[in-house]
Amino acid sequence: MRVIIYTGKGGVGKTSMACASACKIAKSGKKVLVMSTDPAHSLGDSFGVKIGRDATKLSDKLYAMEIDTVYESEKSWGSIKDYIKNLLTAKGNGGGIEVEELLVFPGLEELFSMFKILEVVESGEYDTIIVDCAPTGETLALLKYPERLSGLIRKVLPMEKAVVKTGGKLIEGIMKVPMPEDNVFDDIEYLMDKMERLQKLMLDKSVVSLRVVTTPEKIVINEAKRNFTCLYLYHYNVDAVIVNHIYPEKAMEGYFSKWQKLQEDALNEIKESFSEVPRFYVELQDKEIRTMEVLEEVGDKIFGESDPSAVLFENEIYSVDTENNTLRIYLPFADKEELRLEQDRNELIVGVKNESRKFPMPSEFAGYDIASAKFADGYLNIRFEQE
Ligand SMILES: Nc1ncnc2c1ncn2[C@@H]1O[C@H](COP(=O)(O)OP(=O)(O)O)[C@@H](O)[C@H]1O
Ligand SMILES: [Mg+2]
Repeated sequence: MRVIIYTGKGGVGKTSMACASACKIAKSGKKVLVMSTDPAHSLGDSFGVKIGRDATKLSDKLYAMEIDTVYESEKSWGSIKDYIKNLLTAKGNGGGIEVEELLVFPGLEELFSMFKILEVVESGEYDTIIVDCAPTGETLALLKYPERLSGLIRKVLPMEKAVVKTGGKLIEGIMKVPMPEDNVFDDIEYLMDKMERLQKLMLDKSVVSLRVVTTPEKIVINEAKRNFTCLYLYHYNVDAVIVNHIYPEKAMEGYFSKWQKLQEDALNEIKESFSEVPRFYVELQDKEIRTMEVLEEVGDKIFGESDPSAVLFENEIYSVDTENNTLRIYLPFADKEELRLEQDRNELIVGVKNESRKFPMPSEFAGYDIASAKFADGYLNIRFEQE
């Protein structure tokens, strides 16, 4: 079972890449489901078929689903939300700011979409699940969830079920806070349990891979870099970067000739920033990427002989050790004599021979300076000190 999540800025081609890889995998004989968590669904547009919140069969091995976030959120969260609203309207106010915070928790909807993914994974019905995500921001917010959300829920609803059962009415009297019904507690327990299973799944590198889609444009690359670092620091496995919208050489003649240099620079930047990870390049096609036929064709163009359902890369590229103020960077094949290290304000530049690689400064060490660096066994350990 594999879950492959495509993420990236809006409009870079996430949906197209997700659908194209799904088509290629289905053609190889595996049963595939493409799921979209983006509230602005566009799987239907891509395949040219209407797709619903239940799996819609597109071909022998290919299925698609557009997750209905409102429906999923009501299913997981409905009774809890009603109770929280009760708390808010209750006299004496049941928790103030925190209760309100829970209702507007950023990206909460996305979390409920992820629960749907978990449900499908646990059903074991498919060999591969491809996820077409909402633009970067929401996806990232989601990663911080499990702890933050469960912490908040515990804070707002501190009482254990058993206590409430015996002393509910009494507490209600003293605190002027309505006590939740038993089923609310059951729902909370169920929710917490699902959250734990979701987190475990997301961190299982043999199952879940994330793929960052970018285009060769400065602003998009910057966001892809931030996204990439963040995913790594949370220990998710990014196993490929897909560079879409590359202008073919032919198109660079005449009017677009000035773009050639810009694109070259951008492609170099991509190489320097994501050098350890497999990169796949996709030219701007002479038509929109729609319908199964075109998607299959593009799937072959992107991946060639590679199998898009495989784990394409699995190695920790960098990790942060906050206890020792150290950043550890994986630099296979580097030679100690050939290493150079520079610190820009927001970036570390590591030179290996004639090539340089850039790593964003971890936010944990913002305002810190490099104190020392040591290279051993293919890893560069950089220790930071506060200025
Ligand atoms: N390499 C490409 N060549 C031609 N058209 C493309 C390419 N990549 C994406 N498109 C088109 O660009 C539009 C946006 O792509 P889409 O995959 O929906 O992006 P996202 O899901 O990231 O918002 C779609 O109309 C799609 O067909
Ligand atoms: Mg999309």
